[in-house]
Amino acid sequence: MEKNVVVFGGTGLIGNLLIELLSEDTYFDSIKVYTRRPTHFSFPKIKNEVLDFSDRSSFEKGIEKDDIVFSALGTTQSKVKRDKKVYRSIDFDMCLNIGKACKVKNASSFLFVSSSGANASSSNFYLKLKGEIENAVLALNLPNTQIVRPSLLLGSRKEYRLGERIAQYIMPKISFLFPPSMKPISALQVAKVLIDLSKKENLSNTKIIENNTLLRYKV
Ligand SMILES: NC(=O)c1ccc[n+]([C@@H]2O[C@H](COP(=O)([O-])OP(=O)(O)OC[C@H]3O[C@@H](n4cnc5c(N)ncnc54)[C@H](OP(=O)(O)O)[C@@H]3O)[C@@H](O)[C@H]2O)c1
Repeated sequence: MEKNVVVFGGTGLIGNLLIELLSEDTYFDSIKVYTRRPTHFSFPKIKNEVLDFSDRSSFEKGIEKDDIVFSALGTTQSKVKRDKKVYRSIDFDMCLNIGKACKVKNASSFLFVSSSGANASSSNFYLKLKGEIENAVLALNLPNTQIVRPSLLLGSRKEYRLGERIAQYIMPKISFLFPPSMKPISALQVAKVLIDLSKKENLSNTKIIENNTLLRYKV
């Protein structure tokens, strides 16, 4: 059977590494990357299409039966100017709409990026939101859902994020002080794990992959 991949969030740190690796991997036959604006990816096998992410029904048009679907979508407080509603519309609504489209279209698997510490009962807005999206997607009972929970991502991104740059500089030097669930992790490792997980046919018992497992995962 052909292995056709769909990626949401391909212009981001994890998403871009993901599509670079996917494009080099002969296991996959085609890679569709949906973005909100036309984007040029200089990797082979990639087909870019623009999608209206605010329109729920557009996700169904973008996904076909047996597709392997990845999402590394997400925003930050500064990008949404601290508007929690807008934040939620991206990290929760868009991700859930992709999950729902996977269900309607019978995608073979849905793999997405959450966060270390995700917890629907947390008093922290971000961790609560990530916990809620995990629960909402798991409640869809898709045939194969894989959720990764990385801690601080290490890697170079095009855009400048001062806080993240400082954290990326300091955290690796003091990461021995932190438990494995909080140690920083390279975005490349996360992308590699996602791809490896997507190749496993029967992972019904493994739904959430914690940061410590991501760090040790041999890829
Ligand atoms: N950064 C970290 O240290 C960290 C740690 C743990 C978990 N995470 C989570 O990991 C995931 C991926 O993180 P990342 O740092 O790789 O992400 P990123 O670099 O910020 O990229 C986010 C992606 O989401 C897309 N996006 C954002 N708002 C959108 C909108 N309104 N409509 C359509 N697309 C939109 C972006 O597209 P554009 O290029 O068009 O903006 C981009 O492709 C996120 O869910 C994040 O919460 C991050």
